[in-house]
Amino acid sequence: MTYISPSVLSADFARLGAECLTLERGGADWIHCDVMDGVFVPNISFGMPVVESIRNVTHLPLDVHLMIDRPERYVQQFAEAGADIITIHLEATQKVSETLRAIHACGKKAGISIRPSTPVGSLTPYRGLFDMVLIMSVEPGFGGQQFLPESVDRVRRARQLFPDTLIEVDGGINADNAPSLIAAGADVIVAGTAIMKESDRAAIIARLRSGK
Ligand code: DX5
Ligand code: ZN
Repeated sequence: MTYISPSVLSADFARLGAECLTLERGGADWIHCDVMDGVFVPNISFGMPVVESIRNVTHLPLDVHLMIDRPERYVQQFAEAGADIITIHLEATQKVSETLRAIHACGKKAGISIRPSTPVGSLTPYRGLFDMVLIMSVEPGFGGQQFLPESVDRVRRARQLFPDTLIEVDGGINADNAPSLIAAGADVIVAGTAIMKESDRAAIIARLRSGK
């Protein structure tokens, strides 16, 4: 089973509720919310109030990707805003284990993400503390970037190291490169631009999921 988690980063934020409904009707499995703080990444997107607004318009699980410095400060607030899966970056905190445990203590699934330059093996000390690994296939911070081809091998490595964990991949994914990621073992495909630029959301979501 491959899950498709459209990123709303490239949505029209003035029409966010309607955009989420189109994604839900189009067969999206989750909604991916990219939270950026202007510190961990050189861009600012949105925070808890927007996640809460999305929560109020969709039943889909909210896949909240925190690209923020010291995420331990905000885990509980994102949980209360309605996140179902909260993913933090390994590089963003000195308190990795503590933060993953705090996410679980809020009753949420915990994800851990790594930048393209961080070795996949650096996640092994935290085995058992996370439910999902998020392999970034672009440098985090912006939608619409070029997919980094070495990400396919990184997904394969993550699949080998963590056979019982969901493997998600995010950044520059489209119908051309999704099949190689699914074949390498990705369970969850995030796509922003590739989905939002298509008027037929159901068709592109089905195509991404098909792996061909
Ligand atoms: C990048 C974000 C991604 C990205 C997805 O920092 O985490 O979710 O915006 O958008 P596309 O598919 O346009 O790369
Ligand atoms: Zn993301």
